[in-house]
Amino acid sequence: MIASNMNTQAQHPDFLFMVEHAVKAPSGHNTQPWLFRINESSIDILPNYERALPVVDFDNRELFISLGCALENLCISAWEKGYNSEVKIADTGVINVCLSRSDSVPCSPLFRQIPLRQTNRSIYNGVEIPEKDMAELGKTISGGNIRVYFHKRGSRDFEIIRAYIEEGNRIQMRDEAFKEELKKWMRFNKKHSEQTNDGLSYLVFGAPNLPKCISKSIISQAVNERRQVKSDNKKIASASHLVLFTTQHDNITEWIDLGRKLQSFLLKASKLKIAHSYFNQANEIRELSVKMAESLGLKEEYPSILLRIGYGKTMPYSKRRDINKVILQK
Ligand SMILES: Cc1cc2nc3c(=O)[nH]c(=O)nc-3n(C[C@H](O)[C@H](O)[C@H](O)COP(=O)(O)O)c2cc1C
Repeated sequence: MIASNMNTQAQHPDFLFMVEHAVKAPSGHNTQPWLFRINESSIDILPNYERALPVVDFDNRELFISLGCALENLCISAWEKGYNSEVKIADTGVINVCLSRSDSVPCSPLFRQIPLRQTNRSIYNGVEIPEKDMAELGKTISGGNIRVYFHKRGSRDFEIIRAYIEEGNRIQMRDEAFKEELKKWMRFNKKHSEQTNDGLSYLVFGAPNLPKCISKSIISQAVNERRQVKSDNKKIASASHLVLFTTQHDNITEWIDLGRKLQSFLLKASKLKIAHSYFNQANEIRELSVKMAESLGLKEEYPSILLRIGYGKTMPYSKRRDINKVILQK
């Protein structure tokens, strides 16, 4: 059962603050596939399989990466309120965050970036990110089983990855089930977007606010192989670097860990005014991701998230559901 407004208001205000920041995390197709349970001294984050993407994310890898992003936001905002957090992950992927007040919690410089971070699908300006900022970004991923690789525009590996993204686009755009699932999460105008507060808004595609039947037809026609390949190649060519995140095992714990590190990376990028967007096509089609790993000389690693980074103008922000809809009543 989902919490009623009154119940939620009556709950711990600091914990509500943490959930409010957790839901600002990114998620595939902006499905926001999470639920929260507020306990006496902990918060549980649970997968919401009703919001899974069975076609593009058949094993829920991206779903758990999204949960990891939400977890990182939650832990950063816990510090902001003076709590330490201890995280436990059950085999089912339910995350328990035990929260204890402390006088000696660090203050995260990334907290302020939580509402500012955004996926930016615009054409970037082609300017290269300075080495010192790349080094700062690299520091956010240290230790554990998550690795990150940077490929500068013009390098051999940049071109290898671009070609795999193109192949991934071609496969996905010929797959009717993929396109149907994508369209299900498209929000075609302002009213449609405000009805659900989720999904991929017309604004992020740069479409105008037109009556739904018109805009649905325009946006749906734009979802085709030729246009997707052309538009993505242009976007990739405007980037400074491609960034590949890998795990060493294909399991829930590492997916959640990757999500935490990805979010920390994205918040740091946002602080450095570096824009990002995803090109996950080649990771989503497993045969392609295996081939791509081989071409890049990666052994026993699973390519899981692929980003481009660079500099672009701020875009409209995507919507989030009200937290009352994602907090479970005990
Ligand atoms: C695991 C994961 C995979 C994603 N894959 C893609 C992708 O392949 N293409 C894309 O355009 N956006 C992708 N996104 C970005 C989401 O669509 C975006 O986070 C969501 O629409 C919310 O927007 P925001 O990040 O600006 O808050 C992905 C996000 C996550 C967390």
